[in-house]
Amino acid sequence: GLRKKEVNVLCLGLDNSGKTTIINQLKPPNTQAQDIVPTIGFNIEKFKTSSLSFTVFDMSGQGKYRNLWEHYYKDSHAIIFVVDSVDKLRMVVVKEELDTLLQHEDIRDKKIPVLFFANKMDLQDAMSSNKVTQMLCLDSIQDKPWHICASNAIKGDGLQEGLDWLQGQIS
Ligand code: GTP
Ligand code: MG
Repeated sequence: GLRKKEVNVLCLGLDNSGKTTIINQLKPPNTQAQDIVPTIGFNIEKFKTSSLSFTVFDMSGQGKYRNLWEHYYKDSHAIIFVVDSVDKLRMVVVKEELDTLLQHEDIRDKKIPVLFFANKMDLQDAMSSNKVTQMLCLDSIQDKPWHICASNAIKGDGLQEGLDWLQGQIS
């Protein structure tokens, strides 16, 4: 049959936001990790959908590793940006990192789709995706297609909706 289109996805967001948990859920059940530990540097994960072959760069969100992110901007076709919807204190840090990303010379002029997950929506104090949108001023992103989904990465809720949107942007 036809070869599936190869897509490089960069998964970004602060430490503890749920990036690895999300990527793990998107992999075939028999290849999923049982326990997830904080990412050191980054990991590369692959999975396929009916039409696309994804290579995901699951980056560490820890401060000391965030300088690695920019090295992968050039070769990425899409970004998944994960936000811990409970972590109100660090929303300003999220906003700073997001703004730095969007202003980077390898991203600025590129119509790269950005999928946001407002993750941990299962927790009591989680902000709504509307609130996250507002706090990060996502409505000011004019030059790139973007979308936000509330998610619970542990159960997998919201992930397929996000992936469907992303596929629609790419294929
Ligand atoms: P770094 O690799 O350090 O950048 O973190 P990460 O963004 O990859 O986060 P990771 O997937 O390791 O998850 C961090 C913690 O949050 C883990 O204990 C997860 O079980 C938990 N977690 C992830 N997603 C959710 C969620 O939707 N709901 C809840 N309640 N916990 C979550
Ligand atoms: Mg991780």
